[in-house]
Amino acid sequence: MKRVRLGLLGVGTVGRGVVDVLNRNGDEILRRTGYEVIVSAASARNLENASQFLGPAVKLHKDPLDVVKDENVDIVIELMGGITTARAVIEEAISAKKPVVTANKALIAEYGNDLFSRANAAGSIIAYEAAVAGGIPIIKSLREGLTANRIESVAGIVNGTTNFILSEMRDKGLSFEEALADAQRLGYAEADPTSDVEGLDAGQKLAIIASLAFGIRIQPERVHCEGITNLTESDLRAAEDFGYQVKLLAITKKRSNGFELRVHPTLVPAKCVIASVDGPMNAVLVNSDALGQTLYYGAGAGAEPTASAVIADIVDVIRLSNADKQAHVPHFAFQPDNLSDHPILDMGEVESSYYLRALVRDEPGVLSDISGILADYEVSIEAMRQRESDADTEGVDIVIFTHKTKESSINAALAKITELDAIYETPSRLRIELL
Ligand code: HSE
Repeated sequence: MKRVRLGLLGVGTVGRGVVDVLNRNGDEILRRTGYEVIVSAASARNLENASQFLGPAVKLHKDPLDVVKDENVDIVIELMGGITTARAVIEEAISAKKPVVTANKALIAEYGNDLFSRANAAGSIIAYEAAVAGGIPIIKSLREGLTANRIESVAGIVNGTTNFILSEMRDKGLSFEEALADAQRLGYAEADPTSDVEGLDAGQKLAIIASLAFGIRIQPERVHCEGITNLTESDLRAAEDFGYQVKLLAITKKRSNGFELRVHPTLVPAKCVIASVDGPMNAVLVNSDALGQTLYYGAGAGAEPTASAVIADIVDVIRLSNADKQAHVPHFAFQPDNLSDHPILDMGEVESSYYLRALVRDEPGVLSDISGILADYEVSIEAMRQRESDADTEGVDIVIFTHKTKESSINAALAKITELDAIYETPSRLRIELL
């Protein structure tokens, strides 16, 4: 029987998931590839634990680089996370002409451009399906399933932790802090939740998605990231009253003068499918010219869902192992010498409709002052309503929905509105996507 031997770097949650799924489904994978897939070598932070889990047949190395160099390793599976060592081992694997499968979104977002060009030069493969939206095959869909299409936009819930927190805040009336504590207790959020709750994790995934959708270099530094730490229960409730749900969306759109790349809490109509994606689940909505809208839904994290993506990559690598380099799917989905250099638009250039909520003194002239300022900045109001404030404070909420306008105009108008005497606190501003 033909065999493929894996070198497993990292025997944590995902590494163990990969081993469990390989053990359980090895016969199916053999039927699909013609190869038996085994783990022949590994490295881990805790070698003793790893040895107990993997058994005596797997050679353990202290140094991950030695796994790459091990002559009994055909494919390198990088599941360590982190940047410096992971980058060094992938570079070593490329030099050794060993294909790499990785789940490391931070590494691909930061150094993917360089690693892919090294891999291209060496005729090697770096597969990274598990780096974005866990088990959902969104990279395969963008790179292969949708190749006939011009992609117009992608909008997704790509961070399960924040989606869980938002669902808890809405369903149980919890504050952000209370819902975060729940997420930590249940193991969705890490002890330091910054990367998730500030939108940085979603931003890295979005940078990768945009590069695949549009054939542009991966540019995480150009993603506008706003997290969910400032969201209030009052805004979630007000949004619901008006028929919306608030979701942390990662959005990229092609515009005539460049690309939008943004992560922020977003009002989406309650009746649209993505609004009902709750708890830690992920979903990605793609708009493309020939197919129209497609939605990819599933588990964005967890041992076996992520292992599902890692093993799918291993199968792809096996199938391509004897193929000509020309048969490889390009790392960026587009030919590397044919990438677009259209710019990423500054946030001020982004166009959106907005939800505004201002807590104001209930007295004559306030509404007309606010609407006058919006008119001065050419912001057109679609709907406006006064509602009792949920907060235990004086004043009433003025909630305004605007037509599409430039972010720079709404920001300038809001700065003026905030200066009005009748305003109690800085107004809330959330973007709306009708999807
Ligand atoms: N922390 C991520 C999430 C999973 O909450 O979705 C890993 O990318």
